Amino acid sequence: MLLPDSFLQELKLRCNIEDIVSNYVNLKRQGKTLVATCPFHNEKTPSFYVYPESGSFYCFGCGAGGDVITFIRMIENLDYIESVKFISQKIGLSLPESNYDDSFNKLRLRIYEANRDTAKFYHNMLFSADGKDALDYLYKRGLTYSTIKHFGLGFSPNNRFALVNYLRKKGYTDFEIVQANLAFKGKSGVPFDRFFNRVMFPIIDLRGNVIAFGGRIMGDGKPKYLNTSDTPSFKKNSNLFALNFAKNNCSKRLILSEGYMDVISLHQAGFENSVATLGTSLTQEQVKLISRYSNEVVIAYDSDEAGQKATKRAIELFRGSGVSIKVLTIPKGKDPDEFIRSNGKDGILRFKNLLEQCCNDIEYSLNKLKSQINLDVPEGKVKYLTQACILLSSIDNRFEREIYAHKLSEEIEVQKSSIMLQIEKLIKQREKKSEKKQLKDLQSKIFEDGKKVNPERNKNLRAAHAEEALIAFLMNNPDIYVYIENRLPSSKFLTQFNKMIYEKILKRIKDNKPISLTDLSQDLSIDEISYIAKFLAKYIPSDNLKESVDEYIDIMLYENNKITESEAANTSIDEIRKYIDKLKELKK
Ligand code: CTP
Ligand code: MN
Repeated sequence: MLLPDSFLQELKLRCNIEDIVSNYVNLKRQGKTLVATCPFHNEKTPSFYVYPESGSFYCFGCGAGGDVITFIRMIENLDYIESVKFISQKIGLSLPESNYDDSFNKLRLRIYEANRDTAKFYHNMLFSADGKDALDYLYKRGLTYSTIKHFGLGFSPNNRFALVNYLRKKGYTDFEIVQANLAFKGKSGVPFDRFFNRVMFPIIDLRGNVIAFGGRIMGDGKPKYLNTSDTPSFKKNSNLFALNFAKNNCSKRLILSEGYMDVISLHQAGFENSVATLGTSLTQEQVKLISRYSNEVVIAYDSDEAGQKATKRAIELFRGSGVSIKVLTIPKGKDPDEFIRSNGKDGILRFKNLLEQCCNDIEYSLNKLKSQINLDVPEGKVKYLTQACILLSSIDNRFEREIYAHKLSEEIEVQKSSIMLQIEKLIKQREKKSEKKQLKDLQSKIFEDGKKVNPERNKNLRAAHAEEALIAFLMNNPDIYVYIENRLPSSKFLTQFNKMIYEKILKRIKDNKPISLTDLSQDLSIDEISYIAKFLAKYIPSDNLKESVDEYIDIMLYENNKITESEAANTSIDEIRKYIDKLKELKK
């Protein structure tokens, strides 16, 4: 259900968009508006505008826009109600009870509870007679009793109904169990356990909720790991394994490895600042998460080929995130867990040494490059220099570039100045290219989004412009709605989305209800809200002279008439006759 208007009024009154947005970006005043670089895409010249008067924002670069609630939805990645709660908490407003549909939120809470009960169940199973092999397996892999307890490791029994039966007894419905991805529904409609006969790793978020599980087979079978798919309470792309433990001592540096076992092994060895991705390759969201908690990341991936490929990709993702990047190279194709264990008593010390020796991303990439090229021949030197310059041109800091150029010039015996010249040239080229490409990509994204929201727009551009200008005018000047409505019934709109918004606004004005973007946006999608924010930003109040209203209406009527005429041209003779008769009658 929708939130009551009175509540939204109170929210609008107490919270201004400027205050909320300035928690995330550095706003500069420019007359009636505020400007910043956009938090939703990378840019150097600011194109993100906040309009305190209409309580809206819009980015002319990437097309993100909306009201203050939309802003929180986008930047905090929350749904509508969660965003309202988020803002309400900040301004000390309490949400009206039971007036909105929070069944989705209730489901999320139930999934957390089911996961917690499941984690306990698996954990107890590990220490039961059935779990003996699993416990032995973990001990054999070098984990101690206290590590197993600390991470709450468990065992899913070799019985496809063990967990479902347990959770049903605890009062969970089949729907909840399946939504939590703890069970599948078979063809017969009977749910059976997703995990069985596996060692279980619970995944815990920063608030201490059990959000998912990873399960490892205790041998060589396939798949080696099985993970919870995304659920209403879990997104694998935006969480990290063990960040709940690591968050307290990773402000200086955080170790990122590939596997659950690596992380557990590292924690046991005293490196409690270790985390891992959750069975997927690293994502931009995880990079953001890491940059929020840490200044430096040590990429400690497997030294096999796949691990090295993943390292290269991770370096690219971390560049520009503000986190300094280190790469740890483990000898002999091992992962951190194998390295520590295979070195026995000295494992911890040796890993510490590796950490101390680890080089930054540029050194790592240069070494990698060198190892693939024969530097004894001139062609090899040229190739190395060329590739190295491309690499160095990706460094933001000029001094840093100078330092590596210097090293390179000594190494290959080429003048440093010519290396620097080449690097600067590449930087200029790249900047030109990437700015153009970024702009083009963004423009086409805005265009595509717009097409989704209002598919008729492109065929009726002129009319759509007028429709949007008129709606913007109406939103800023609701008092003259009678005049507008008399001249322009909604049937004259040529695009469905604009027509729907126009009708919605008129109805609200007649019902004496407010019509700001916040009031309209409850049942609209983010794309739809951004679409409206765009034309609100385009037609700001000072542009809206009253004479223009008549102009907009004239355009719309003209365009509408044109369509009717061309439709007439395409119809049968009979219909045309009828049409002409009608026109005659109208003239009388
Ligand atoms: N992974 C996965 N599904 C698989 C294989 C791997 O989700 N079929 C994920 C797991 O999160 C795993 C990580 O990728 O921890 C790294 O995989 P891998 O290096 O193969 O496993 P290890 O973590 O080294 O596990 P182990 O030491 O138990 O072999
Ligand atoms: Mn391993």
